[in-house]
Amino acid sequence: MKRVLIIGSGGIGRRHLRGYAATGRASLSIVEPHAERRAEAEAMFALAGSYADLDEADLSSFDLAVICAPAHLHVPLMLKCAAAKLAFMVEKPLAVTMEGVDAALEAVEKAGILARVGYIRRIAPEVLAVRQQIHDGKIGALKLAYVNSSQEFPKYRPDFQRTYYARPEMGGGAILDAASHTFDMLVWLMGRPVAVGAMYDRLVLEGTDTEDTCLVNICFANGAMANVTINQFQKPNISQASFIGTEGNLFLEHSVLSFADDDSGHWKDRHDYMDGLVPTEAHQARFTLQANAMLDALDGKPCHLATLGEARQNLQIALAAKKSWQDRIIVSIND
Ligand SMILES: NC(=O)c1ccc[n+]([C@@H]2O[C@H](COP(=O)([O-])OP(=O)(O)OC[C@H]3O[C@@H](n4cnc5c(N)ncnc54)[C@H](O)[C@@H]3O)[C@@H](O)[C@H]2O)c1
Repeated sequence: MKRVLIIGSGGIGRRHLRGYAATGRASLSIVEPHAERRAEAEAMFALAGSYADLDEADLSSFDLAVICAPAHLHVPLMLKCAAAKLAFMVEKPLAVTMEGVDAALEAVEKAGILARVGYIRRIAPEVLAVRQQIHDGKIGALKLAYVNSSQEFPKYRPDFQRTYYARPEMGGGAILDAASHTFDMLVWLMGRPVAVGAMYDRLVLEGTDTEDTCLVNICFANGAMANVTINQFQKPNISQASFIGTEGNLFLEHSVLSFADDDSGHWKDRHDYMDGLVPTEAHQARFTLQANAMLDALDGKPCHLATLGEARQNLQIALAAKKSWQDRIIVSIND
C-alpha cells in the first residue's frame, strides 16, 4: 500500500480520492483547510489521516502527494514537496504566472523526485490512439490542428462563480482552466511552442472576472500550427479536433476517432473509444487509470503523464495568449 496525501479535497480532490481508492493500492489522507469540506471528505472516504494545514502533516510519512488546491498555490506546494523529497502529481495548470516556476522545477530536479501534472486526457484511450496513429505515420507529417471545445460550463460546474474559476489570479477562465487541457494535447503531439496569437473575452457568463471565450493560434518549433477555439456558454457540447497531415486527416469528436485520406466525403476506421460506457463513469474511471499510472511510476515503471517541463511550455502558451490580446501582438516564446 502506498501512502497518498491528497492536498485539497474540493471538486478534483474528490475525483482523485475516488480514483486512488479504486486502485486498492493506496491508503489515503487529506489536507483541507475548509472545515466543512474536510468533514464531508472524512465522512465520504476511509481516511488514514485528515489535516487542516499541510504543516500539520509529517510529509516524510507519505509516498506521494496529489496537489489539488487552486493553481495559484501550486508553486509553494510543489516547493514543500520538493523540500520533503515527496513525489507528487500537481493538478493543471502548473501555475498562474511564471513567478517561482523555474525555482520550483529546479528544486524538484535537485530533490530527484517523481513529479507529473494532472492532464487527464493523456490517459484517454482516444487521445492515446491519435498519438499512436500519428506516430505510425497514418496521416503523414502532422502539419495543422484545429480544436473546438465548447459547452455550457455553468451546467457542469454550477458553483463556478464561487470557485477559483471566477478569478484570473487563481487560474480561472477559458485559457488557463479549459484551453490548458488542449494545449497539453498539442504540446504532446506537436512539440515545443514558439509563437502565439490570440483574442479572448467574457462574452456571456456573469459573475466572474475571467474570459469565457478564447481563440488561440499556436506555432510550433517544427513549423506545424494549431488553432484552438473555446467558448464556455454555448448550449451544444462540442468537442472536435482535426489533425491534418500530408497524407490524411484524423478527426476526433468527443471519443469517436475517424480517418480520411481522400475527398469522397466518407470517414473510415471510425471507432468510439467510449462505446457502451456511461460517460460520467468512464470519466471517473480515467482518474483510476491516472492513479495507477502514478503508482506504477513510483514503482519505477515508465510514465507518459505530463512532465513539469511540458506543463511549463503549456503555461507559456496560456500567458502568451493573454499577452497577445492585451498588447495586440503575436508573442514569441523563447526558452
Ligand atoms: N484535471 C481536471 O480535469 C481538473 C478539473 C477541475 C479542476 N482541476 C484543477 O484542480 C485544481 C483545483 O480545482 P477544483 O475544481 O478542485 O477547485 P475547488 O475550489 O473545488 O477545490 C480546491 C480545494 O483546495 C482547498 N485548498 C485551498 N487552499 C489549500 C491549501 N493551502 N492546502 C490544501 N487545500 C487547499 C480548498 O479549500 C478547496 O477545497 C485547479 O488547479 C484546477 O484547475 C483539474
